Order: sequence, then structure tokens, then C-alpha cells
Amino acid sequence: MELNKIQPADDSNVANGILPNLSATSLLSVSNLSKTFELPREGWGTVPRLRAVDKVSFTISEGEVLGLVGESGSGKSTLGRLVLRLIESDTGAVHLEGTDIRRLSQRQLQDARQKMQMIFQDPFASLNPRRKVGAAIEEVLELHGMQEPLARSERCKELLGQVGMSPEDAQRWPREFSGGQRQRIAIARALAVNPKLLVADEPVSALDVSVQAGILALLRELQSRLSLAILFISHDLSVVEVMADRVMVMYLGRIMEVAPTRALFNAPLHPYTAGLLAAAPRLNSGSKLQVMLGGEIPSPIDPPSGCVFRTRCPFALPACAQEVPELKDLGQGRLRACLRDDLDLPQVQAA
Ligand SMILES: Nc1ncnc2c1ncn2[C@@H]1O[C@H](COP(=O)(O)OP(=O)(O)OP(=O)(O)O)[C@@H](O)[C@H]1O
Ligand code: SF4
Ligand SMILES: [Mg+2]
Repeated sequence: MELNKIQPADDSNVANGILPNLSATSLLSVSNLSKTFELPREGWGTVPRLRAVDKVSFTISEGEVLGLVGESGSGKSTLGRLVLRLIESDTGAVHLEGTDIRRLSQRQLQDARQKMQMIFQDPFASLNPRRKVGAAIEEVLELHGMQEPLARSERCKELLGQVGMSPEDAQRWPREFSGGQRQRIAIARALAVNPKLLVADEPVSALDVSVQAGILALLRELQSRLSLAILFISHDLSVVEVMADRVMVMYLGRIMEVAPTRALFNAPLHPYTAGLLAAAPRLNSGSKLQVMLGGEIPSPIDPPSGCVFRTRCPFALPACAQEVPELKDLGQGRLRACLRDDLDLPQVQAA
């Protein structure tokens, strides 16, 4: 029998992550978060459902940068949007400083947004082309209670300075700026209300390589000066390597591995992480393990049973089609979702 023909086991109770201890000092605690999209029905059949995020749990501490990586379609942006409640989750909880933002009214949510902001890949997504830069920044300040126009204007100039722009830029239109400058303005706008958490979704992917480093350096500098926590989403491992304190690896809506950044890049413990690293070799790579990621990421409408990575995993066993691996805590900040406890990737690498 082909592995992918085996019927899925009941996985309804398999959490994907360590359920956060809400009394801990985490800024953000996400538990058992899931999101399924309903797709347009074709003909008279049932409505197809796409599982984008599946029972994901994780935490982010104050001032911590958590990288989120995975191939296109793995659910990274959906997870980022769920965290800010830009879209509604099906189940789960998202606690920001102890408050479950899923239970807030729209009015309360608007107040909570003062603590969490998002930066998008395309800065035009957050900048209204018909609004001057200063007005765009001041709009956020006003929304969050800064009523005095002079105070708003001063704060706006201060913010532009913080992101390496000049106070005069407040009077210009977004179209007058390059992509890199627009991203700086979007960052200034996001920081206007002193958030504690930023969700940065591919913030440099749309920019020329020559300007990427400047934006990353700015984000790192602001992060450390303002003690910002960032959920830093990127498909580019080299970018995550320089930005993140810890990295979470996602595949088909589930977390495969979590580890401190250096440990993950030097010695990945999950076959999928090893495959991602092999597909994007880095000059200073400590890992020599070459796990080839054959084929395409399967459709989330009909994900593989058991371990969702099994159709591409060189180490898969028949049991991998039947049981959903839990994300197990292996100590030293390392977590892995793999049924094969006997699989010691660093040892495979050394052999
Ligand atoms: N609004 C939506 N309606 C239906 N399907 C959606 C919607 N948003 C996302 N999806 C699907 O959910 C899955 C996860 O998408 P998501 O954008 O979160 O992935 P991603 O990891 O951010 O990918 P990328 O690296 O390409 O940005 C994909 O299969 C995508 O097609
Ligand atoms: S559970 Fe099986 S298929 Fe999944 S990563 Fe581990 S060995 Fe590979
Ligand atoms: Mg995305």
C-alpha cells in the first residue's frame, strides 16, 4: 500500500507546540491556534476546506525576535494575521500580556492594537497613496488618543528621524520615495504608538538586495533600543539567521522544529529543517547534512495523513502515515515534531 493512501488517524488531540504557561513572563502566548479557509464550491460537491494553520502553540518573550520560516504556502502569513486578529481563528487562544485578544470586542481590540503592529512585504499595503507621509503617521497617533495637533506633528518628526528619514519628508507623498524609504516610513508608522510586538511579514523580500541590509539593520537597532518583540516571517533563511534569536520552522500549517538560531543552523534536528538548509546553502554553514527536498509541498486541502512532511521525508517509516507527531521538548530550547526518536540528524551528518 502506498504511504499516502493510508487513512489518516484521528489527530484531533495532537497539539502542535508546547502549551504555553500563561503565568510565565511571555509577552505573547499562542495556544492551539487553527485556521481553515472555505474555498468556493465547484458544482454540487461539498465545500473544499483548506487547513492553513493547525493547532499551533508558541510563545514570544518581551524583546525577543522569533523567526518564522517555511516554504511558500506553509501558513506563515496566516499565522501572523491570526496573532494580530486581522483574521479570525477557528479555535485556540492568543494571549498578549495575559489578555486573550480573541475575546475582545472590536473597540477593545483597537486599544490592544496599540501594543501590536504589523509590517508588510509591500509598504504600499500600509501606506495610502492619497495621504502625505506625515498625515499617514499622524492618523495612527490620533486613532490612539493623541489629540493635540502640535504634539502629533512633533512625534511624527521624531519617528521619521528614528527611521533615518528627514522631518521634511512628512510633507511628501509615498510615491516620491523608493521601496526602501517607503518601508522605513511604514516602520515609523508601525512604531508610532510604541507597540511591544511587531509582526513583520517578509519585510525586505520586495526590496533590492542592496537596500535589504539597511532595513534589517534598522529593524535590529530599533528592536534592541525599544526592546521590541518581533515575529519575523521570511522564506529567506539568511535573513532570519541575522535577525532572529529563535527560529520556528513551519510546514503545511504545523510547526516542525523550534530552536535557538545558531543551534538550528548548525545542527538541524528535523528532516524538513535540514532540507530547507540544504536547499539554501550558506557559506558559513555548520551543517553538512544534505537532505533533498524532492517534489512540491502537498495541497493543504488534502494534506498527508500522520506526519504532513512524510511524502517528502527520506526517513519516513510506515508509522509516519498513521500518527501525527507531537512537538516534543528536547531540552536546551529545542523542540521537534518527528516520530523517529531514533533519528539523530547530527550523527547522520557526521557519518
Ligand atoms: N484568504 C484565503 N482564502 C483561501 N485560502 C487562503 C487564504 N489565505 C491563505 N490561504 C491559503 O492558506 C495557505 C497558507 O497561506 P499563507 O499565505 O499563510 O502561506 P505563507 O507561508 O505565508 O506563504 P508565502 O511564503 O507564499 O507568503 C495557502 O495554501 C494559501 O493558499
Ligand atoms: S515523523 Fe516520519 S515523516 Fe515525519 S519527519 Fe519524522 S521521520 Fe520524517
Ligand atoms: Mg506569506
